[in-house]
Amino acid sequence: MDSASRPADRSDAADRSLRGKLSTPTRRDFIRGIAVAGASTAAAVGMQRSGLDLFSETAVARGRRNGFSDFTAIAPSSNDAFEVPQGFRADVLISWGDVFRDGMRRPLRYGFNNDFLAFFPLKGSREGLLFVNHEYPDPFFLHGYKPTGADKTPAQVQEEQDSVGNSILHIRRRRNGRWKVVSPSPYNRRIYGDRPDLKFTGPLVGAPGIGTSAHGSVGNCSGGVTPWGTAISCEENFDGYGTNVAVNLDFGYGWHQFGGQPEDAEYEFKAFQKYGWVCEHDPYDPGGVGRKHTALGRFRHENAAFRHEPGKRFVLYMGDDRANDGVYKFISDRSLRKGKHADNRAILESGQLYIARWEPEGRRRFRTAGDTTPINATEGTGSWVPVPDEMLDDTSTKLRAAFGSAEFDLHFATNRPEDVEVADDGSIFVALTNNSSVRDSHGSVRRLRERNNDPEALEFSWRDYAAGGPTGATDPGEQGFSSPDNLVFDRAGNLWVVTDISSSRLNQANEYAYHKNNAMFMVPTSGPNRGIAFRFANGPVECELTGPYFTPGEETFFVNVQHPGEMTGLTSTSPGIFGQETTYTSWWPEGNRVEGDFPSTPKPSTVAISRGNPDEGEDD
Ligand code: FEO
Ligand code: CA
Ligand code: CA
Repeated sequence: MDSASRPADRSDAADRSLRGKLSTPTRRDFIRGIAVAGASTAAAVGMQRSGLDLFSETAVARGRRNGFSDFTAIAPSSNDAFEVPQGFRADVLISWGDVFRDGMRRPLRYGFNNDFLAFFPLKGSREGLLFVNHEYPDPFFLHGYKPTGADKTPAQVQEEQDSVGNSILHIRRRRNGRWKVVSPSPYNRRIYGDRPDLKFTGPLVGAPGIGTSAHGSVGNCSGGVTPWGTAISCEENFDGYGTNVAVNLDFGYGWHQFGGQPEDAEYEFKAFQKYGWVCEHDPYDPGGVGRKHTALGRFRHENAAFRHEPGKRFVLYMGDDRANDGVYKFISDRSLRKGKHADNRAILESGQLYIARWEPEGRRRFRTAGDTTPINATEGTGSWVPVPDEMLDDTSTKLRAAFGSAEFDLHFATNRPEDVEVADDGSIFVALTNNSSVRDSHGSVRRLRERNNDPEALEFSWRDYAAGGPTGATDPGEQGFSSPDNLVFDRAGNLWVVTDISSSRLNQANEYAYHKNNAMFMVPTSGPNRGIAFRFANGPVECELTGPYFTPGEETFFVNVQHPGEMTGLTSTSPGIFGQETTYTSWWPEGNRVEGDFPSTPKPSTVAISRGNPDEGEDD
């Protein structure tokens, strides 16, 4: 009987005080996970609902399982720790600032605010390449800058440019089960906010303001993996880099103001359209040149999910993560040709972009912030409306102008599509995180089905599949989720969801109080637990969890911890005093501020979760 087949033990609640004791006696050897005593048992809950014997060893919670799907769900937490259920371990693989080396032994530094990640195998699930996005800088932690409106120096801007972009990391699993970065390695490399140049492809190559290449890549939020083995990285909040720094304008970096290099003018996002695109990189080719695909439009690209059916053209789903913006689909001109790498590399260069038109309307609306019952339809139909080429350079702005705001808000606007994933059956799941303009605090996961399940169809039906918000369940592990962000399916068909409630609203007396820290959940999509969100992991203080991704054999579940301690220096009145770590709002991963343990700088980090005991496994 494994841990999750055991019935829920209510006395375990008392054992939650063990969290600290189970935490890191071996701080320096990279064990950061904490096994938390169980709150509810996924399997047991399913058995109760299906009327089966709780103690039967043959009863199964769901029809389909994988190595992570049976666990004792954990309670919400405000601890400054990364918490996982008993029977699992969570090890920090690498943190912001850690040095790794390329094939020439040149030092590279892991970037800030890791978001999307994907594992590209070299030797099955034991060795591979991690492709990681570094979404945005935190000027305070980088060089002590708070948004006071004061000038930055060119050196400070350079430090910010060096902290973002992408990392390609060669990693290997050791005999003790833990992962390490292979360094030096010819695969190891970085793409930064200002270098190297990426090439534009598609219909807008050479257009004024775009040209043929861009210096580096910014706003790299989520992404995807292509069937031909390359990585997709989506440039989301591209406008912040060319927005003037102002008092308390927390996400205006002013690179065009203070960078000091002629090319820094190109971050000005109205005169130039160098950023805000979907980028493609080949992790296996250290000499490869990244490409920005203009055929996919320019908006706050958050994510990309591919669907390909034999004999059909290639389809890519995407979300525009701004309140009241839309969901898109691209149908390539070319089909996938097995083994024809050079031909397949051109798949994203030509095709037709569409935006989803929702009936009766696209946004889930609520009477009052915090409500969990919407006042409008939670299912309907829709169609895919073509986007003309002349709108590709500023897609959302131009579509809104063409349709008019009233029409756009009614039929195209959504509640911030943070992620899109395609399920085994071809249906599409969209995480709609929240939207204060329609008082949607908690968000939802929506499911689309193309007409006749044809990827090339131009009509679809939709239904809100899982609703965010407190469930009121008695079980601490089933309290619900808010503000869903990245999604991933395991091979058993379970949907994994991470959350992104704004740091400024976490652990306050508001509608998110029940949630405590941001977390990760498993939602079975079949069996008696279908649609229930079981809490699998809690992130440390003021972080969001991002980029969940399994190794091919699902032995390891990688996840990123982004912006722990974000409130430290976010505004001019934030509590942080640069260099005084006791003033920082999180001390993770090296310390734990809630427990007063080891004041230290919080660092965005990549975590590897696997089955095992956190106290076992010496470095070899
Ligand atoms: Fe970068 Fe929309 O999260
Ligand atoms: Ca996101
Ligand atoms: Ca987010």
